[in-house]
Amino acid sequence: MNNQTAVRAPERRVVMDIKNLTKKFPLEDGKYVTACDDINLRAYEGETLGVIGESGCGKSTLVRTILQIHPATSGEVFFEGKDILKTKGEERRENRRKIQMIFQDPTAAFDPKMKVKDILCEPLLNFGLIKKSEIGEKARELLRMVELPEDFAERYPHSMSGGQRQRLGIARALSLEPKIVVCDEATSALDVSVQEKVCRLLVKLQKERGITYIFICHDIGLVDLMCDSIAVMYLGNIMEVIEHGRISEKARHPYSKALMRAIFKVDFRRGEKVQPLEGEIPSPRDLPSGCPFHSRCPECAEICAKEKPALKEKEPGHWTACHFA
Ligand SMILES: Nc1ncnc2c1ncn2[C@@H]1O[C@H](COP(=O)(O)OP(=O)(O)OP(=O)(O)O)[C@@H](O)[C@H]1O
Ligand SMILES: [Mg+2]
Repeated sequence: MNNQTAVRAPERRVVMDIKNLTKKFPLEDGKYVTACDDINLRAYEGETLGVIGESGCGKSTLVRTILQIHPATSGEVFFEGKDILKTKGEERRENRRKIQMIFQDPTAAFDPKMKVKDILCEPLLNFGLIKKSEIGEKARELLRMVELPEDFAERYPHSMSGGQRQRLGIARALSLEPKIVVCDEATSALDVSVQEKVCRLLVKLQKERGITYIFICHDIGLVDLMCDSIAVMYLGNIMEVIEHGRISEKARHPYSKALMRAIFKVDFRRGEKVQPLEGEIPSPRDLPSGCPFHSRCPECAEICAKEKPALKEKEPGHWTACHFA
């Protein structure tokens, strides 16, 4: 083929490489809660990495450890070629600017006595990126970016709807031009139509700015729509990673399949309820030997209780941590 006409697939660039990340919370009785257990994951530039799993599986702890809200127990998190867990001082502050977070309830992060323009510009002032005299103009620019009326600049956050406040949270996080934005259930509290608008906005801003999202969400349908790669977590472990495909179609791991069955085989119109997965979820204080899912796995064999399966790429772009999947 002629070189000039050859169309090359764009190269994917890893922006964050999480290696063997473990987070244990010490307890008073000398034991530990293992919230993240030897996690390996990659996030690519301009893509969205989804993280799903039952409540308590360690999703928030994973991102909080990346953001250095909690110190990691062990492991590395490479960002722009450096292990951010080892950075200090000015370098750590600069990483905080480049990796931002959008919370489920942005209101908690806003001072109710501050006007919208001050809320929006506070991070920029803290980093010395604008002068006080530029607040009004910058706030209006940020409001336009998230498709809110410019006159909201003079309002207080309590006079806005939940969806509007979530847009404020997005504008504030994006004001620092981050490379990575972590969304921890950022759209979960919104009703479906508002959620759709906020998600569209997130996708639009991602395309314009090449941002990477780490998107934590309970809604598998939404994760399928939003994400380029999807990681399934169980008891602090990554059980499956699917790149470029829907988890609802490609899930291979018995845990992921059970998660899909629990959610998709429900006829809400007939009043059926979501069936929780069978069996008790083991305590993160006493992690089971072998595969973390073996005690609940319908396909469990002898080896599963003895040997923990490594997360392996079984076909291109598809990793599973299962002896059989
Ligand atoms: N500061 C803490 N001290 C002790 N244990 C903690 C702490 N934070 C989280 N945990 C425990 O770590 C485990 C993982 O919690 P985490 O909040 O990461 O789960 P999650 O997947 O985000 O759940 P959800 O979907 O409900 O938000 C849980 O067992 C939780 O009780
Ligand atoms: Mg959480």
